[in-house]
Amino acid sequence: MNWNSDIITNLSWAGAISNIAGKQKVADQIVSKIKDGDVIGVGSGSTVYLTLFAIAEKIKAEKLNIKAIPTSIEISLFCDKLGIPLTSLFEHKPDWCFDGADEVDPNKSLIKGRGGALFKEKLLISSSPVNYIIVDDTKLVDKLGSKFPVPVEVFPQALLHVEKELKALGATNIILRLAGGKDGPVITENNNLLLDVHFDEIDTDMERKIKSITGVIESGLFINYNIEVLVASNNS
Ligand code: A5P
Repeated sequence: MNWNSDIITNLSWAGAISNIAGKQKVADQIVSKIKDGDVIGVGSGSTVYLTLFAIAEKIKAEKLNIKAIPTSIEISLFCDKLGIPLTSLFEHKPDWCFDGADEVDPNKSLIKGRGGALFKEKLLISSSPVNYIIVDDTKLVDKLGSKFPVPVEVFPQALLHVEKELKALGATNIILRLAGGKDGPVITENNNLLLDVHFDEIDTDMERKIKSITGVIESGLFINYNIEVLVASNNS
């Protein structure tokens, strides 16, 4: 039976999407990798959202049997809207995964988590043998931390302990992420808080050092992961 839900029918992306043409180009690269029977880990963010439309079209046109493992409620809902069947890490290990990023450095290390889904995104990428990061060229940086702070998901009662420890790691500014559609802070899908943390220097050990603080669930630093970066030019 179908819900016939107006919520799903009327669901749209919250906010403006930059460089739609570039993101659609890179979406086409992802779609060309799909094979019948694939279980695909699906990241979060606007680039992923746009890619879902192209995936849904291909599933329909070629009658493919594809399953998606989503990293956020919003991506689950969009998969539902577009008719992309869902599964979970309990049932399947992904064959491959795709996701966006906020920054990509020359060593293919990343900052992710502007959308707040960093924990599940890291879990999916860690669970998948093949990972594609899809970005437009505005995301390429010489040095991590140039444009974006590092998101850190924190168990609420550990907030002030984590703040103290992040300062000891050299954090220059630590901001509690506030919500847009409710009073107070963003609460993640795991019921935690998010800090946006600025550093002057991010060394290759920083991800491990942040994760070793008691109360940190995960950070948005992805240093030396097994990923392939697909870049769309801003004017392509
Ligand atoms: C979501 O939590 C993020 O990690 C996104 O993947 C990242 O912020 C990129 O988002 P856009 O594709 O919207 O730029």
